[in-house]
Amino acid sequence: MAQQVRAVVARSKGAPVSLETIVVPDPGPGEALVKIEACGVCHTDLHYREGGISDDFPFLLGHEAAGTVEAVGEGVTDVAVGDFVVLNWRAVCGQCRACLRGRPWYCFDTHNAKQKMTLTDGTELSPALGIGAFAEKTLVAAGQCTKVDPAASAAAVGLLGCGVMAGIGAAINTGNVGRGDTVAVIGCGGVGDAAIVGSKLAGASKVIAVDIDDRKLATAEKLGATHTVNSRSADAVEAVRELTGGFGADVVIEAVGRPETYRQAFYARDLAGTVVLVGVPTPEMQLELPLLDVFGRGGALKSSWYGDCLPSRDFPMLVDLYLQGRLDLDAFVTETIALDEVEKAFERMHHGDVLRSVVVF
Ligand code: APR
Ligand code: ZN
Ligand code: ZN
Repeated sequence: MAQQVRAVVARSKGAPVSLETIVVPDPGPGEALVKIEACGVCHTDLHYREGGISDDFPFLLGHEAAGTVEAVGEGVTDVAVGDFVVLNWRAVCGQCRACLRGRPWYCFDTHNAKQKMTLTDGTELSPALGIGAFAEKTLVAAGQCTKVDPAASAAAVGLLGCGVMAGIGAAINTGNVGRGDTVAVIGCGGVGDAAIVGSKLAGASKVIAVDIDDRKLATAEKLGATHTVNSRSADAVEAVRELTGGFGADVVIEAVGRPETYRQAFYARDLAGTVVLVGVPTPEMQLELPLLDVFGRGGALKSSWYGDCLPSRDFPMLVDLYLQGRLDLDAFVTETIALDEVEKAFERMHHGDVLRSVVVF
């Protein structure tokens, strides 16, 4: 029997979100129904609301979530009723050319629930990133659920579902940061801060935080940055070189997504170093670099999709580290809010006041 639950919906472009009653179908083959316990508010939700991602309104927002599996459809064996899970937006297919080559974190054919959740008048909803978890319950593909230790706080580990995983993964998966490496992170929002935490976890000897906002640098320092650079008042490239014996960092993580910060990342890295782009650019942005420098400086220029994570591999591991006190995910939860406070949280996010507001149910 389909169920009716409360959820946050973006009905039209730019309009404030509203609390609505939605209809959630019973899980069909390969699907799972999840009772949401917590869901973080991410910039991407705001982008959806502003029509920056697609025009498929109405959207069901929310995608950084943890909860409990309430029901599973036919053929689901990886998760079971009662499992505590973190949701992900890249359920890998196991069959595309990336999966078949043993690189499922690049999967080119990730999937979501086949059935649609709707408004009570039957209007189909588009779940943000195929999740839609600002809802008491949501329907996803079973592969979007990763079982983790239920002792963990849902508000904290739900954040692994998106931005925090992107940042940690940019450092440990894409950038391959290892013991003794020097790292610079440009842009210290939720993603950049997670890259700082990931670098520290991986044993970086120096983690240099670069931002244009002193408040962000103060938080970055709390999370483990060893040095901070305000690139409004100092030249970011010069500053990073100075802090690394004149050479540049082994790995520079760009967590803004702009050509000028990418250029800083490119030149702030040591010869043969690695640049990781995890910030997401917009379609009109262009990058110009001397090709001779691209060749002559060597190394690797990489992009990081969702931290090149494999949820089944990375989520349980990171939750274990969290429970052991080695990964402070609680530090990313600035405030917990109620379901009807998402619009207010967008406002605070827009002003740069919070790392994450998290809806708890
Ligand atoms: N130089 C350095 N830092 C900058 C610059 C700049 N020119 N412009 C902005 N920043 C800083 C902001 O001050 C802020 O601290 O970058 C940070 C961006 O953080 P958020 O807006 O909180 O974004 P976040 O959620 O961390 O995501 C970062 O990754 O997933 C993508 O779409 C996302 O592109 C975005 C990026
Ligand atoms: Zn695949
Ligand atoms: Zn997100």
